[in-house]
Amino acid sequence: MATAHERREMLKSVYEEAQGCVACPLHRTRTTVVFGSGNADADLMFIGEAPGANEDRQGLPFVGQAGKLLEKLLGEIGLDRGDVFIANTVKCRPPNNRDPHPHEIESCHGYLRRQVALIEPTVICTLGNFSTKLLREDTTGISRLHGREEVRTIGPRAVRLYPLYHPAAALYTPSTLETLRADFHRIPELLSLGAPPQPEPIEPVPEPAEPEPPPRSAEAAGAAAADAADAMDLPEAVAPPVADAQLGLF
Ligand code: URA
Repeated sequence: MATAHERREMLKSVYEEAQGCVACPLHRTRTTVVFGSGNADADLMFIGEAPGANEDRQGLPFVGQAGKLLEKLLGEIGLDRGDVFIANTVKCRPPNNRDPHPHEIESCHGYLRRQVALIEPTVICTLGNFSTKLLREDTTGISRLHGREEVRTIGPRAVRLYPLYHPAAALYTPSTLETLRADFHRIPELLSLGAPPQPEPIEPVPEPAEPEPPPRSAEAAGAAAADAADAMDLPEAVAPPVADAQLGLF
């Protein structure tokens, strides 16, 4: 099991990879890649739909009105953004806030899977239809599923999946807000159950043994040793470190 520090470092390297992503057409219209933010060691993860205009500008998820509501509801259960990790099904803003297309969700899914595998949350709250349908691999909508927890396996991780209404849907509809609030208030109870039993890790298939290389001549061995010594003198080509603030990590 990774330490909190290792988890954070591995998440940073996925973050850096995502910064250069051109896997779907959304890269052409984005300002920033909204990778996700929060505590890399969180037990609780929220997965929304897609960044909007504010998120695209700031590079952080849920920083607009829906985000303010999410923070308020978190506060009501004694948590804040530093306790959780927040991500979206797609990391780049769809133009004019249109719905993300299936191929965009699919090409971004690998990042989300890796986030879940690295963070190893206990509870994942899907916010709205898009993330609920994606993680349940089913077309059943949020109005039938909200507030009903179930154990689901996401990649290597079994989690308590807990679909909730999207906070944006609750902003102007008081009855939806009350339902979201009531569902939200059950999160501490779900967290207190701890992680569900985990699937057996899949053993990596052993690589076929390499054939023995032919014995090297003394001359070739000397040249290889000299190359290795030269290489050790080379300055390390490392990318500039990612600042935690860029990631919104706590
Ligand atoms: N709505 C979302 O689904 N995600 C965000 O990051 C912001 C608004």
